[in-house]
Amino acid sequence: MSASRPGADSRVQALSWCEEGLRLLDQRRLPHTEQYLLARSADAVTDAIRNMTVRGAPAIGIAAAYAVALASREAWRAASAGWRDRIAPELARLRGARPTAVNLGWAVTRMEALFAGIDGDPYPVLRDAALALHAEDATANVTMGAAGARLIDPGAVVLTHCNAGALATGGWGTALGVVRSAWQAGRIARVYAGETRPWLQGARLTAWELLRDGIPVDLVADAAAAHLMRTRGVDWVIVGADRIAANGDVANKIGTYGLAVLARAHATRVMVVAPVSTIDPAVATGADIPIEERAGDELLDCGGRPVAAPGAGAWNPVFDVTPAACVDVLVTERAVLAPVDGAGIARLLERAGR
Ligand code: MRU
Repeated sequence: MSASRPGADSRVQALSWCEEGLRLLDQRRLPHTEQYLLARSADAVTDAIRNMTVRGAPAIGIAAAYAVALASREAWRAASAGWRDRIAPELARLRGARPTAVNLGWAVTRMEALFAGIDGDPYPVLRDAALALHAEDATANVTMGAAGARLIDPGAVVLTHCNAGALATGGWGTALGVVRSAWQAGRIARVYAGETRPWLQGARLTAWELLRDGIPVDLVADAAAAHLMRTRGVDWVIVGADRIAANGDVANKIGTYGLAVLARAHATRVMVVAPVSTIDPAVATGADIPIEERAGDELLDCGGRPVAAPGAGAWNPVFDVTPAACVDVLVTERAVLAPVDGAGIARLLERAGR
């Protein structure tokens, strides 16, 4: 990687493992407070995923893998016999912590696939498997970062949405991994980030992690995207994904679909960056992807203070589906796909042995 621009050394770490448990940077408190929590049990990790202490599809998957190791340790210490059956309820709760990010179930399934071959204490085997999954994700991000950056012409203006950075992954990031790599290579002139109402992942998290790495960023209100594209020009919308259907439809943070539609009207290209683990061959199209709906108070309040008229109701779907036809390119660690369609996804999965 070229070091022609300062910044982008990705010192941000959302999760790290120590023998006591999983250390999580509490993303609910960023950017004002940098506080780490220690999850010592699988249920503590499940709570952290549900309450968004840790969030972002790949990071959720990594946390889940460590949770399986923690569950096995607790069960084995209590009694060696029947540990597999005894952790089943905890793993079921873990799988249900958030519905849209497929990496959660994918990681639990990958860990469970090891159970049959374990003889004796499962913890060392499962801990090492979780560490390996974490390292694989970080490596995949760097690979995707370089591949995506090669698609960006020097001087580009990019707009990203939500947070698909080091905070949402094993490190470096998916969409922000491309931004980091392209920034280092001197290809990006300007980064805009949508604030991402209601949870403000863009304003709170993306701005925080880019600035920490020395990458300047301008926030825009989500509603300013069309005006931004029309008046200042955006070359690329670059986003991550929570689940990609077999036909290439992409579920990502609410607002992504709107950006993709706007991009079509303004000659802006759309790049989705995600590891192959985010592809779910079991769902045929985006219509089959479960869309998480969270509590209305995320919308009615801001920073714990009411902002809406008392008595107003709220509907708070937190993801939407962008049709494959609105995505110009899908960058994965295995290959770059353009056009994005069912045939390409099938080839990609075959190459990845899935
Ligand atoms: O609700 P969140 O913050 O978990 O949603 C995260 C996103 O939508 C990200 O864009 C997606 O998970 C990709 S993260 C690399």
